[in-house]
Amino acid sequence: MAVARTPLIAGNWKMNLDHLQAVAFVQKLHWTLKDAAHEDGSVEVAVFPPFTDIRTVQTLIDADKIPFAFGAQDISTHDSGAYTGEVSGAFLSKLSCRYVIIGHSERREYHHETDEIVAAKVRAALKHGIVPVICVGETLEQREESGPTAVSVAQLRVALEAVSADDDFVVAYEPVWAIGTGQVASPEQAQEVCAALREVISEALGADVAAKTRVLYGGSVKSGNIASFMREPDVDGALVGGASLVVDEFASIIRFQKHVGV
Ligand code: 13P
Repeated sequence: MAVARTPLIAGNWKMNLDHLQAVAFVQKLHWTLKDAAHEDGSVEVAVFPPFTDIRTVQTLIDADKIPFAFGAQDISTHDSGAYTGEVSGAFLSKLSCRYVIIGHSERREYHHETDEIVAAKVRAALKHGIVPVICVGETLEQREESGPTAVSVAQLRVALEAVSADDDFVVAYEPVWAIGTGQVASPEQAQEVCAALREVISEALGADVAAKTRVLYGGSVKSGNIASFMREPDVDGALVGGASLVVDEFASIIRFQKHVGV
C-alpha cells in the first residue's frame, strides 16, 4: 500500500448488536487496543452499527474520546418527506456519521438496489457531508461469465457519476462469493480488481484522486489473512463483516501492522 493512504479497517456489523451490546463492544475494543499499545492514527478504525445504535455509539465515542470513526449501513436517496422507514443523510450528518456504506451486495440483492440507486445514494451522502463507502463486487457466475473485473468496474463507473474530484469517498471491493462464506479471495485476486478500480477512478476523476482514494477489500477477512491483503499495493484496508463482531479478532485485524510477517 502506498504510504500516502492511511489504512482503513472498517467493521460492518450488519444486523447484529443492539445499542447496549454496542456500548460493551466499543469499550472493550478500545481497551483491547490500548492494552496492546496500539498506535492510534496508524490505522483508521471505523464501525458501522445498525441505525438504532448510532446515537449511543456517538455519545460513547464522544464522551470517552475514543479514536474510532463510525457510520451508517445505508442512507435514503431523499432528504425528508413521506418515505416510511427511510433514514435521511441529514439525520446521519447530525449524528456526526463520518461514513455511510452504499451499494453493499446484500442491499443490491435483497433490496433490489440498482447501480442508479447506488449513485443517487452516493449523491445524497456527499450532499450531507458524509463519505460514501461505495461497495462493488461480482457473483461467482458473473466472474465465470465476464472475468474478474468487468462487473465491479461497471458498477463503480455508474456510482462515480455522482462524485466530483474534490469529494472524499472510499471504494470497497467485495466479491459476493467471498462474503460470509469463508471462501476468501486470494491477495492476488483482490489486488487485480482493486487496481482495476483505481484505474476507473483515475479515468473518471484524475490520477491525483485515484492516488489518494482508499480501495478496500472485503469478504471473509480474518486476523489470519489481513496481512496478506495489506501487502498488496492497491489494497488500502478492509471492510470486515463477521470478524468485526468479535473484539479480539477485530482488534487483531486492526493491528495487522504487527503481524505483517504472519
Ligand atoms: P464477511 O467478513 O462476514 O465475509 O462480510 C464481509 C462484508 O460483507 C462486509 O461488508
